[in-house]
Amino acid sequence: MIEDVGRLAQLIIESKKIVVFTGAGISTESGIPDFRSPGGVWSRYDPEDFTIQKFLSSQETRENIWKMSVEAGLLIEAKPNPTHYATAELHRLGKLDCVVTQNIDNLHQKAGVPEDKVFELHGNMQWVVCTGCRKRFPLPEVLQKVKEGMAVPHCPDCQSILKPDVVFFGEALPQETLTEAIRRAQSCDLFIVIGSTLVVYPAAYMPAYARKAGARLAIVNLTPTSLDHHTTVVIHGKAGEIMTRVMEKVRQVGQE
Ligand code: APR
Ligand code: ZN
Repeated sequence: MIEDVGRLAQLIIESKKIVVFTGAGISTESGIPDFRSPGGVWSRYDPEDFTIQKFLSSQETRENIWKMSVEAGLLIEAKPNPTHYATAELHRLGKLDCVVTQNIDNLHQKAGVPEDKVFELHGNMQWVVCTGCRKRFPLPEVLQKVKEGMAVPHCPDCQSILKPDVVFFGEALPQETLTEAIRRAQSCDLFIVIGSTLVVYPAAYMPAYARKAGARLAIVNLTPTSLDHHTTVVIHGKAGEIMTRVMEKVRQVGQE
């Protein structure tokens, strides 16, 4: 592992336009469960309940999702962890082109990556959107209504049902965000994947776009992924510890 930490640090030192691509695995060290590890979200909830079709057609599904959102609302207190801070440090070093994340927890922004450098492919759970007039509301305001007994909140303007402003299965990703994320992946010199199984598309196409356009690819993940053998360096282990050591190495070489 030591030499791989050194190799990733060297790649970062040699690169000027880095894209960091993150998944739920980087937020587990902030206390937010990921989806596919043992005990992850999909071992406790049925992903079938998270399709846009079911949300729009079934009152019961909407009530379940809002009940879960009240629970998830606690995520708002979640704090960034060393991986989020390592990514923010790449920004301060002038090396981060952007973060492309599948996460909805706002932790990259909380760690100091500017909003315009975070491309959230699956939305952001801080917001709720009206399925009718597309107006957006801050999550805490809507959760308060749910806690006060409004099992399925409706839009105060047009009475349509409200939904968390995150991408449900079967729902299109935000087009502009996706287009720009692809453009950035295709114009970076180093693409670092951290904490993702790379099994959900179209997000999981990003590393391939980067590689095809000539970027070098690095993966930091607890478990193997299908792209491991296509990487310049892959490090299996906990991202927080690994990225802390990688950035120590980058700083050390930077001072020599
Ligand atoms: N350090 C490094 N890797 C970790 C850590 C950690 N501390 N904790 C977990 N991981 C790894 C797991 O081994 C797993 O390979 O992170 C990966 C998380 O994978 P998933 O749970 O599948 O999360 P993700 O890849 O983000 O899922 C993509 O699926 O359900 C949808 O919309 C949801 O955005 C999500 C998408
Ligand atoms: Zn409305």
